[in-house]
Amino acid sequence: MPHSYYAAHLTTLRARYEEALEATGYDAVILPSGGQTYYHADDHAHPYHASAMAQQWLPFKLIPYLHILIRPQHKPVLFWPGQRDFWHVVHTVPEGEWQNGWDVQTVKDAGTALASASQGIGKVAWVGPDLPFTSQLTGVEMNPQSLIHHLNYQRACITHYEIDCLVEANKAGMQGHQAAKEAFLNGADEYEVYQAFLQGSRQLSIDEPYPGIVALNENAATLHYEQKSRTLPGESRTLLIDAGADYLGYASDITRTYTRENGLFGSLITAMDQLQQTLVQSATAGARFSDLHQQALKGIAIILQETGICTHSMEIQLEKRIPQVFFPHGLGHLLGLQVHDVGGHQQDPEGTLKPDPNAPFLRLTRSLQENMVITIEPGLYFIPMLLEKMIQDIPQHGCDLELIDTLKPYGGIRIEDNILVGRDTIRNLTREFSFD
Ligand code: GLY
Ligand code: MN
Ligand code: MN
Repeated sequence: MPHSYYAAHLTTLRARYEEALEATGYDAVILPSGGQTYYHADDHAHPYHASAMAQQWLPFKLIPYLHILIRPQHKPVLFWPGQRDFWHVVHTVPEGEWQNGWDVQTVKDAGTALASASQGIGKVAWVGPDLPFTSQLTGVEMNPQSLIHHLNYQRACITHYEIDCLVEANKAGMQGHQAAKEAFLNGADEYEVYQAFLQGSRQLSIDEPYPGIVALNENAATLHYEQKSRTLPGESRTLLIDAGADYLGYASDITRTYTRENGLFGSLITAMDQLQQTLVQSATAGARFSDLHQQALKGIAIILQETGICTHSMEIQLEKRIPQVFFPHGLGHLLGLQVHDVGGHQQDPEGTLKPDPNAPFLRLTRSLQENMVITIEPGLYFIPMLLEKMIQDIPQHGCDLELIDTLKPYGGIRIEDNILVGRDTIRNLTREFSFD
């Protein structure tokens, strides 16, 4: 269970923060969990997600208005909001061994407590969302980029505790996917498939790490399709479901595509699944993620040629950028406390950013390192807008437009797993919970 590695995780975090503070010239940092925000002119709050920087430190889901003070050579301090309230649940400090590593203080007024705690300890940074009282914390520097770059860079390589959290997030996510697949095969509409996913993963929609994507038929061609239609289409051909689960603030991000038919679209799903698994095996330490993305484009070109969708060779397709018409997003991204976790373009702790000019949507351009967790999510879609653009912009595109017209009603395919990068091998956290 994640908690058994928590003490070691805390030791690692303390060492990393000490290094980052030293390198950037700060003596301490305050990490707020963040406050609630409200709809305009309303007393209802937006769904609350704690700031990832604070969540990483504690083995329970953070509540709003909690603060952490990190100072080298000192136990981390947790300022717990002391509430008196009969309108809402009053949260008490969770019990447990985690407290051994902390100085826990219950405070009525966080602003006053933090102003007093940050006096006389040198240069103090604040990393996280603003709160109404932060402007009154004199001498505290708000979100200094140099420190944030260091912390973001370090965060990409995760601890045993974090690996276990991601395993749990994948387990719950795959339980949801199994229920969703069954619902689809039983003839459910998008809304019902989504409800099945939530129930299978034992989540409320506000618990999800990102709003699940549940797309039937041509809706699968919208990459971030956000509707959940309550109407079943006349013929339910395809399900693309991209949905994950949360465990203690850590996210899984899983996509599966199913069809009821054995025709060409079914063969494309099989071919994409094989390509995805080949790419996954290449995601070991030292690999450049931009190269893996190129490998994915090559694999898609081969599939397009073998199925007669495009008559050109792989080389000519790459020259003409044909695979990008069918696969217009990146191969994957860092995954952890955030679904698209931070630092994917960052080449060093100082914050040198290097997006890939050939693949502007690629969220990860770093070379892979042991203990990074990434997604591998190649896709192949029939997107009318991009196909029209191809017809206009790419002379002799070589694509069989009539064949493509027969595939448009299926929307598209994406297959996405969460991969722990190892030195010579990988661990597929998602397929450990395969159900078919
Ligand atoms: N669920 C969003 C993504 O796969 O990146
Ligand atoms: Mn993803
Ligand atoms: Mn996804």
